[in-house]
Amino acid sequence: MNTLDPSPFAARRARLAESMRAAGGGIAVIPTAPERARNRDTHYPYRHDSYAYYVSGFTEPEAVTVICCDDTVRSMLFCRPKHEEREIWDGFRHGPDAARVAFAFDEAHSIEEFDALLPKLLAGAPNVFYSVGFDEAFDARVTRALNAVRNMARSGLSAPTAIRDVRAMLDPMRLVKDAGEIAIMRRAAAISTAAHKRAMHAARPGRNEYEIEAEILHEFRAGGSEYPAYTSIVAGGANACVLHYVSNNAPLKDGDLLLIDAGCELQSYASDITRTFPVNGRFSGAQRDLYQLVLAAQDAAVAATRPGTAYNLPHEAAVKVLAQGMLDLGLLTGTLDAALELGDKREGGYFRFYMHRTGHWLGLDVHDAGEYKRGEQWLPLAAGNVVTVEPGIYVRPAADVPEHFWNIGIRIEDDALVTENGCELITAACPKTIADIEAWMRA
Ligand code: GLY
Ligand code: MN
Ligand code: MN
Repeated sequence: MNTLDPSPFAARRARLAESMRAAGGGIAVIPTAPERARNRDTHYPYRHDSYAYYVSGFTEPEAVTVICCDDTVRSMLFCRPKHEEREIWDGFRHGPDAARVAFAFDEAHSIEEFDALLPKLLAGAPNVFYSVGFDEAFDARVTRALNAVRNMARSGLSAPTAIRDVRAMLDPMRLVKDAGEIAIMRRAAAISTAAHKRAMHAARPGRNEYEIEAEILHEFRAGGSEYPAYTSIVAGGANACVLHYVSNNAPLKDGDLLLIDAGCELQSYASDITRTFPVNGRFSGAQRDLYQLVLAAQDAAVAATRPGTAYNLPHEAAVKVLAQGMLDLGLLTGTLDAALELGDKREGGYFRFYMHRTGHWLGLDVHDAGEYKRGEQWLPLAAGNVVTVEPGIYVRPAADVPEHFWNIGIRIEDDALVTENGCELITAACPKTIADIEAWMRA
């Protein structure tokens, strides 16, 4: 049974209705995600759609939020009806009556009535606010309903003449987190921090990457997280140079680093932490040099993460530090200007060793909703944004690269809440300096 406070969700529906009114009014249709079969009668673990959750708080499958905005505003939830037998097999369903009250909707109906009711709701609405292209089966239902209204034109009914992207209207709202969202994200960050600390204790030569992944998952679930926010990367040695390594099945070797990118999802909100540490508890000289460089790049990016600065500035700050460091350490030769160049073939500059960006929005999705750039303008950061700061360096063996750096992959990733005058790393409790990591691993 729902124990959420429905008021923030109702407030978001009201804000969306204001934007709908400003755009001429009409009806918004926001379905949740479909269930997906894994094989035969077994499904992938169900995860609701983040936009649908954002405006409803409702996590059951087969649900649609509808907002009708003409002279008045009405919000409706369509959801699965109560069903004694299905509830014996699959568990509790709210059903429309309880859901209407628990989630503070004006009306609620069985999802079985949706296809019949949608044309009636669309008739006379100037706009339909719906995001096409994310769920073909649902697109077809909306299209059928639109055609049903168009076919009633002779009875004097008019169909909406514009389909507007409702997700694009919700994106700017999702970018600025409210106090309740921030509180959840702090708790998610704390659980993920505990998981990384546990992994540092568990790692030692001879253990397997999957054993360390198991420690991480244990801590997530024991902390109350529903699922990992994304597939954990547990990459020892050269595996760390594979950016999306998820096999997690190799033995850990003495003298190697272990890169772990893992974050839990808590109450639908993601956390996203990367730490890189020595399997045997002690950084070697070459590992130290590269680690300090990535840490300095992160410090520069964090210092640039504050309200009003362009989204891209932290990335540029990190790249500047990394490029200079690559020259100083002999990974690159030539001028700083050349090192800062991507180059036509993305060769010759820093990109060879640092081929991803320094961060992304974080929220309900790990790579959260929201624009980064509009036209030529990067968005300015604003208080309430949550963004990751995650520079790295990945050195593959090559004849022109000093051998002591070969196969070292390092990333350091924290989650930054943009505040009124800077930012706060909500993952700061996770050991990060060389001294802190070595001390924690000894403890
Ligand atoms: N774990 C996904 C990312 O860091 O972007
Ligand atoms: Mn990330
Ligand atoms: Mn990550």
